[in-house]
Amino acid sequence: MTKLLRIDASARTSRSLTRALADSFTLGWHERRPEDEIILRDVGRNPPPIVTENWIAAAFAKERTPDQEQLLALSDELIAEVASADIIVMATPMYNYGMPAALKAWFDQVVRVDKTFTFDLARGDAPLEPVFWGKTLILLTSFGEFGFAPGGPNEGRDSLTPHVRTASRYLGVEAFHHVGIEYQEFGDERFEASHKAAFAALAPLVDTLVNALAPRPAPDAAEALAGL
Ligand SMILES: Cc1cc2nc3c(=O)[nH]c(=O)nc-3n(C[C@H](O)[C@H](O)[C@H](O)COP(=O)(O)O)c2cc1C
Repeated sequence: MTKLLRIDASARTSRSLTRALADSFTLGWHERRPEDEIILRDVGRNPPPIVTENWIAAAFAKERTPDQEQLLALSDELIAEVASADIIVMATPMYNYGMPAALKAWFDQVVRVDKTFTFDLARGDAPLEPVFWGKTLILLTSFGEFGFAPGGPNEGRDSLTPHVRTASRYLGVEAFHHVGIEYQEFGDERFEASHKAAFAALAPLVDTLVNALAPRPAPDAAEALAGL
Protein backbone atom coordinates (compact mmCIF):
# COMPACT_ATOMS: atom_id res chain seq x y z
CA MET A 1 0.00 0.00 0.00
CA THR A 2 1.20 3.48 -0.87
CA LYS A 3 0.52 6.31 1.57
CA LEU A 4 -0.25 9.86 0.53
CA LEU A 5 -0.03 12.85 2.83
CA ARG A 6 -2.21 15.72 1.64
CA ILE A 7 -1.38 19.13 3.08
CA ASP A 8 -3.75 22.04 2.46
CA ALA A 9 -2.40 25.51 3.19
CA SER A 10 -5.03 27.89 1.82
CA ALA A 11 -6.76 30.00 4.44
CA ARG A 12 -9.84 29.81 2.21
CA THR A 13 -12.05 26.85 2.90
CA SER A 14 -14.47 27.64 0.09
CA ARG A 15 -13.60 28.73 -3.47
CA SER A 16 -9.98 27.71 -2.93
CA LEU A 17 -8.28 26.79 -6.19
CA THR A 18 -5.47 24.87 -4.52
CA ARG A 19 -7.93 22.81 -2.49
CA ALA A 20 -9.80 22.06 -5.72
CA LEU A 21 -6.57 20.93 -7.39
CA ALA A 22 -5.79 18.68 -4.42
CA ASP A 23 -9.35 17.28 -4.47
CA SER A 24 -9.00 16.43 -8.14
CA PHE A 25 -5.56 14.84 -7.72
CA THR A 26 -6.53 12.73 -4.71
CA LEU A 27 -9.85 11.69 -6.28
CA GLY A 28 -7.99 10.61 -9.42
CA TRP A 29 -5.53 8.69 -7.27
CA HIS A 30 -8.30 7.03 -5.26
CA GLU A 31 -10.03 5.90 -8.47
CA ARG A 32 -6.84 4.19 -9.63
CA ARG A 33 -5.71 2.85 -6.22
CA PRO A 34 -8.61 2.71 -3.73
CA GLU A 35 -6.51 0.63 -1.34
CA ASP A 36 -4.08 3.49 -0.68
CA GLU A 37 -4.36 5.60 2.46
CA ILE A 38 -4.61 9.38 2.19
CA ILE A 39 -3.68 11.27 5.37
CA LEU A 40 -5.19 14.77 5.59
CA ARG A 41 -3.36 17.63 7.27
CA ASP A 42 -5.12 20.96 6.90
CA VAL A 43 -2.77 23.68 8.08
CA GLY A 44 -4.91 26.35 6.40
CA ARG A 45 -7.79 25.54 8.77
CA ASN A 46 -5.59 24.67 11.74
CA PRO A 47 -2.23 26.44 11.50
CA PRO A 48 0.51 24.89 13.65
CA PRO A 49 2.02 27.25 16.23
CA ILE A 50 5.19 29.07 15.25
CA VAL A 51 8.31 27.82 17.00
CA THR A 52 9.45 29.64 20.15
CA GLU A 53 12.66 29.81 22.19
CA ASN A 54 11.29 27.09 24.49
CA TRP A 55 10.42 24.91 21.47
CA ILE A 56 13.96 25.22 20.11
CA ALA A 57 15.45 24.40 23.53
CA ALA A 58 13.19 21.32 23.71
CA ALA A 59 14.13 20.22 20.18
CA PHE A 60 17.85 20.38 21.01
CA ALA A 61 17.62 18.98 24.57
CA LYS A 62 19.45 15.69 25.09
CA GLU A 63 17.09 14.73 27.91
CA ARG A 64 13.62 16.28 27.95
CA THR A 65 11.34 17.27 30.79
CA PRO A 66 7.66 16.24 30.54
CA ASP A 67 6.86 19.88 29.61
CA GLN A 68 9.38 19.76 26.79
CA GLU A 69 7.93 16.46 25.54
CA GLN A 70 4.53 18.13 25.55
CA LEU A 71 5.87 21.11 23.62
CA LEU A 72 7.11 18.78 20.89
CA ALA A 73 4.01 16.56 20.77
CA LEU A 74 2.51 18.19 17.68
CA SER A 75 5.90 18.24 15.95
CA ASP A 76 6.22 14.49 16.66
CA GLU A 77 2.76 13.88 15.19
CA LEU A 78 3.47 15.93 12.04
CA ILE A 79 6.84 14.22 11.54
CA ALA A 80 5.22 10.77 11.93
CA GLU A 81 2.81 11.69 9.12
CA VAL A 82 5.71 12.68 6.85
CA ALA A 83 7.69 9.57 7.81
CA SER A 84 4.82 7.27 6.86
CA ALA A 85 4.07 8.98 3.52
CA ASP A 86 5.45 7.88 0.17
CA ILE A 87 3.85 10.79 -1.67
CA ILE A 88 3.24 14.29 -0.31
CA VAL A 89 0.56 16.36 -2.02
CA MET A 90 1.11 19.97 -0.96
CA ALA A 91 -1.60 22.41 -2.02
CA THR A 92 -0.61 25.99 -1.35
CA PRO A 93 -1.39 29.51 -2.52
CA MET A 94 1.25 32.18 -3.02
CA TYR A 95 0.89 34.80 -0.29
CA ASN A 96 3.10 37.87 -0.58
CA TYR A 97 5.34 36.04 -3.05
CA GLY A 98 6.06 33.18 -0.66
CA MET A 99 4.36 30.43 1.28
CA PRO A 100 1.47 31.11 3.69
CA ALA A 101 2.64 31.54 7.29
CA ALA A 102 0.70 28.39 8.24
CA LEU A 103 2.74 26.29 5.82
CA LYS A 104 6.00 27.84 7.02
CA ALA A 105 4.96 27.02 10.59
CA TRP A 106 4.37 23.42 9.45
CA PHE A 107 7.86 23.20 7.90
CA ASP A 108 9.41 24.67 11.07
CA GLN A 109 7.60 22.04 13.19
CA VAL A 110 8.64 19.20 10.87
CA VAL A 111 12.23 19.94 9.91
CA ARG A 112 13.82 19.01 13.23
CA VAL A 113 17.29 17.93 14.29
CA ASP A 114 17.75 14.17 14.80
CA LYS A 115 14.20 13.55 13.55
CA THR A 116 14.17 14.67 9.91
CA PHE A 117 17.84 15.68 9.57
CA THR A 118 21.11 14.99 11.30
CA PHE A 119 23.84 17.56 11.85
CA ASP A 120 27.49 16.54 11.94
CA LEU A 121 30.42 18.90 11.44
CA ALA A 122 32.53 15.88 10.50
CA ARG A 123 30.74 16.21 7.13
CA GLY A 124 32.63 19.45 6.52
CA ASP A 125 30.77 22.30 4.83
CA ALA A 126 27.62 20.21 4.27
CA PRO A 127 26.84 19.11 7.84
CA LEU A 128 23.08 18.54 7.36
CA GLU A 129 21.72 15.28 6.00
CA PRO A 130 18.09 14.25 5.62
CA VAL A 131 16.88 11.20 7.54
CA PHE A 132 14.15 10.19 5.05
CA TRP A 133 14.56 9.49 1.36
CA GLY A 134 12.69 8.35 -1.76
CA LYS A 135 9.55 10.44 -1.33
CA THR A 136 7.69 12.24 -4.12
CA LEU A 137 6.26 15.74 -3.71
CA ILE A 138 3.36 17.05 -5.79
CA LEU A 139 3.23 20.81 -5.36
CA LEU A 140 -0.14 22.31 -6.34
CA THR A 141 -0.18 26.11 -6.40
CA SER A 142 -2.28 29.09 -7.35
CA PHE A 143 -0.93 32.58 -8.01
CA GLY A 144 -2.99 35.73 -8.42
CA GLU A 145 -0.39 37.16 -10.78
CA PHE A 146 1.51 35.43 -13.58
CA GLY A 147 4.81 35.19 -15.46
CA PHE A 148 7.17 34.07 -12.69
CA ALA A 149 9.21 31.85 -15.03
CA PRO A 150 12.41 33.08 -16.70
CA GLY A 151 11.61 35.81 -19.20
CA GLY A 152 8.22 36.58 -17.60
CA PRO A 153 7.22 39.95 -16.13
CA ASN A 154 7.54 38.54 -12.58
CA GLU A 155 10.76 36.61 -13.11
CA GLY A 156 12.67 36.21 -9.84
CA ARG A 157 9.67 37.05 -7.63
CA ASP A 158 8.48 33.50 -6.91
CA SER A 159 9.81 32.74 -3.43
CA LEU A 160 7.25 29.95 -2.91
CA THR A 161 8.29 27.23 -5.36
CA PRO A 162 12.07 27.35 -4.76
CA HIS A 163 11.54 27.55 -1.00
CA VAL A 164 9.31 24.46 -0.93
CA ARG A 165 11.75 22.66 -3.21
CA THR A 166 14.76 23.44 -1.01
CA ALA A 167 13.06 22.69 2.31
CA SER A 168 11.43 19.48 1.02
CA ARG A 169 14.87 17.85 0.84
CA TYR A 170 14.47 17.53 4.62
CA LEU A 171 11.18 15.71 4.15
CA GLY A 172 13.04 13.05 2.17
CA VAL A 173 11.73 14.32 -1.16
CA GLU A 174 13.70 13.16 -4.19
CA ALA A 175 11.11 13.57 -6.98
CA PHE A 176 9.32 16.87 -7.47
CA HIS A 177 6.28 17.72 -9.62
CA HIS A 178 4.62 21.12 -9.84
CA VAL A 179 1.21 21.99 -11.26
CA GLY A 180 -0.01 25.55 -10.84
CA ILE A 181 -2.67 28.03 -11.80
CA GLU A 182 -1.82 31.65 -12.59
CA TYR A 183 -3.78 34.84 -13.30
CA GLN A 184 -6.37 34.22 -10.53
CA GLU A 185 -6.65 37.93 -9.77
CA PHE A 186 -7.36 38.79 -13.42
CA GLY A 187 -10.23 36.35 -13.84
CA ASP A 188 -9.96 36.71 -17.61
CA GLU A 189 -9.50 34.24 -20.46
CA ARG A 190 -5.83 33.79 -19.49
CA PHE A 191 -6.98 32.63 -16.06
CA GLU A 192 -9.52 30.28 -17.68
CA ALA A 193 -6.79 28.78 -19.88
CA SER A 194 -4.35 28.40 -16.98
CA HIS A 195 -7.06 26.85 -14.79
CA LYS A 196 -8.02 24.39 -17.53
CA ALA A 197 -4.41 23.42 -18.25
CA ALA A 198 -3.62 22.81 -14.57
CA PHE A 199 -6.62 20.52 -14.01
CA ALA A 200 -5.90 18.74 -17.32
CA ALA A 201 -2.33 18.03 -16.14
CA LEU A 202 -3.47 16.11 -13.05
CA ALA A 203 -4.81 12.89 -14.62
CA PRO A 204 -1.65 12.28 -16.69
CA LEU A 205 0.44 12.94 -13.56
CA VAL A 206 -1.59 10.41 -11.56
CA ASP A 207 -1.14 7.92 -14.45
CA THR A 208 2.63 8.44 -14.55
CA LEU A 209 3.02 8.02 -10.80
CA VAL A 210 0.67 5.04 -10.53
CA ASN A 211 2.32 3.31 -13.49
CA ALA A 212 5.71 3.81 -11.88
CA LEU A 213 4.40 2.02 -8.77
CA ALA A 214 2.95 -0.95 -10.66
CA PRO A 215 5.21 -3.98 -10.24
CA ARG A 216 6.97 -4.78 -13.48
CA PRO A 217 7.45 -8.46 -14.38
CA ALA A 218 11.00 -9.73 -13.89
CA PRO A 219 12.84 -10.24 -17.25
CA ASP A 220 12.60 -14.06 -17.13
CA ALA A 221 8.88 -13.88 -16.25
CA ALA A 222 8.36 -11.53 -19.21
CA GLU A 223 10.15 -14.00 -21.50
CA ALA A 224 8.03 -16.87 -20.18
CA LEU A 225 4.87 -14.85 -20.83
CA ALA A 226 6.08 -13.97 -24.34
CA GLY A 227 6.58 -17.68 -25.03
CA LEU A 228 2.96 -18.56 -24.15
C1 LIG B 1 -3.02 37.26 1.75
C2 LIG B 1 -2.87 37.03 0.28
C3 LIG B 1 -1.66 37.36 -0.34
C4 LIG B 1 -1.49 37.13 -1.70
N1 LIG B 1 -0.29 37.43 -2.28
C5 LIG B 1 -0.09 37.13 -3.59
C6 LIG B 1 1.16 37.39 -4.21
O1 LIG B 1 2.09 37.88 -3.61
N2 LIG B 1 1.31 37.09 -5.52
C7 LIG B 1 0.32 36.51 -6.24
O2 LIG B 1 0.52 36.21 -7.42
N3 LIG B 1 -0.90 36.26 -5.68
C8 LIG B 1 -1.11 36.56 -4.38
N4 LIG B 1 -2.32 36.28 -3.79
C9 LIG B 1 -3.37 35.63 -4.60
C10 LIG B 1 -3.45 34.15 -4.29
O3 LIG B 1 -2.24 33.50 -4.54
C11 LIG B 1 -4.57 33.53 -5.13
O4 LIG B 1 -5.79 34.16 -4.77
C12 LIG B 1 -4.72 32.04 -4.93
O5 LIG B 1 -5.72 31.58 -5.81
C13 LIG B 1 -5.10 31.68 -3.50
O6 LIG B 1 -5.18 30.28 -3.37
P1 LIG B 1 -6.56 29.58 -3.03
O7 LIG B 1 -7.46 29.88 -4.22
O8 LIG B 1 -6.26 28.14 -2.90
O9 LIG B 1 -7.09 30.20 -1.76
C14 LIG B 1 -2.53 36.55 -2.45
C15 LIG B 1 -3.75 36.25 -1.82
C16 LIG B 1 -3.92 36.50 -0.48
C17 LIG B 1 -5.23 36.15 0.18
